[in-house]
Amino acid sequence: MADYITIDRSPALSGSIEACGAKNSVLKLMAASVLIEGVTVLRNVARIADVEVMCAVLRALGVRVDWSAPHELTLDASTITSTTAPYELVAQMRASTAVLGPLAGRCGEARVALPGGCNIGSRKIDMHIAGLQSLGAEVEIRHGYIEVRSPAAGLRGAEVLLEFPSVGATENLIMAAALSRGATVIRNAAREPEITDLLDFLVEAGVTIDGRGTAELTITGTTKLDEVCHAVIGDRIEAGTFLAAAAMTRGEVEVTGIVPEHLEIVLRKLEAMGAVVERGASSILVRASDQLRAVDIQTLPFPGFPTDLQAQFMAACAVAQGSSIITENVFENRFMFADELGRMGADISIEGHYALVKGGAELSGAAVRCPDLRGGAALVLAGLVAEGTTTVHDVFHIDRGYEGFCEKLFSLGARIERHSGQD
Ligand code: UD1
Repeated sequence: MADYITIDRSPALSGSIEACGAKNSVLKLMAASVLIEGVTVLRNVARIADVEVMCAVLRALGVRVDWSAPHELTLDASTITSTTAPYELVAQMRASTAVLGPLAGRCGEARVALPGGCNIGSRKIDMHIAGLQSLGAEVEIRHGYIEVRSPAAGLRGAEVLLEFPSVGATENLIMAAALSRGATVIRNAAREPEITDLLDFLVEAGVTIDGRGTAELTITGTTKLDEVCHAVIGDRIEAGTFLAAAAMTRGEVEVTGIVPEHLEIVLRKLEAMGAVVERGASSILVRASDQLRAVDIQTLPFPGFPTDLQAQFMAACAVAQGSSIITENVFENRFMFADELGRMGADISIEGHYALVKGGAELSGAAVRCPDLRGGAALVLAGLVAEGTTTVHDVFHIDRGYEGFCEKLFSLGARIERHSGQD
């Protein structure tokens, strides 16, 4: 039997925790190391399962990957020995597709398995492909692989207009553009803080980039990138998860190692729910003494409300006073955990990409299963306020993106325990 977590109704959480380095940033920074014919050092790297998968992807390409300190990775991409990201790895983690752009730029070719179905929607890859084609690459889908071939003279800069500000497509294009001839302009680019982190990294490597933090990026390619030592930004999604937990338990929690502006819309929602929020230079404190009030939330690309916090806030709305409408605009099928929350007594009706959450429910502990990473975290949060014991199964989903999730909650006073499958 696999590991599981038990949670008993917990007192108000209280204390301080430090956010880890952002998962969605480090995975792309690791992929970007392929662009550099030399050594990349990444600091503030979270020890999470997805990072280990990306280590395996890079090793398959011939990159030497070492943990040089507990939260520091040294990646030596002096020699690339393969341009194939195999299915066994891509199937484990869709973000493996982030090596497409760097390989096409550096090696002139890339073979990356199609990620296939995913439990939070169909998650297409068409914009990544169209973008690379604009830079002159030939792209074919054969035998379940995306095969990219650059022209003999290499990729060349171009203007690309994205249909939707896709995070992954923007990143793949940025990385491909870094080693292209001339300038690439990306319009309607995603503006997530993790993208700005990638752009900062590339600037440190010697790439000229205009428009950082905006929806129009101009990347002027170069022929060789410099070695880089870079600290990953704090994980706003991890931070937001703990802040939601603080509000739900009517506690007082500080999260450090985070840029408050990265969570501004989330903090405003917490305030609208009745919590007090204090923004520090690199920390956020949330204090909630009364019962939370319902709020409506719609997920949108940054700076809108992050889809990766939708589940955790739905759990908060389930125990708030009043009804909330939650609209998921970024992914289809991202309400799967709502059924599990329903098993704990939450009153949620789903209609397409809308969820009506009738708050004020008295949740009761139950056996539940993580459907995905963030849904799993939301179930743990619900367990903190549910009467009795909640048992959360399939916690490998949570391990993908949270380092020491149980330990951190425990340190804040949660009555939580992780059990190994042998128990
Ligand atoms: C990244 C994050 C994920 C987050 C998401 C949105 C990582 C590793 N993952 O995922 O945690 O929830 O951003 O903030 O960074 N789409 C297309 N065609 C494409 C690409 C995307 O139709 O070529 C669609 C997707 O199906 C989805 C939407 O665009 O509905 C957003 O996807 P995207 O922004 O690309 O998310 P990811 O990069 O996959």
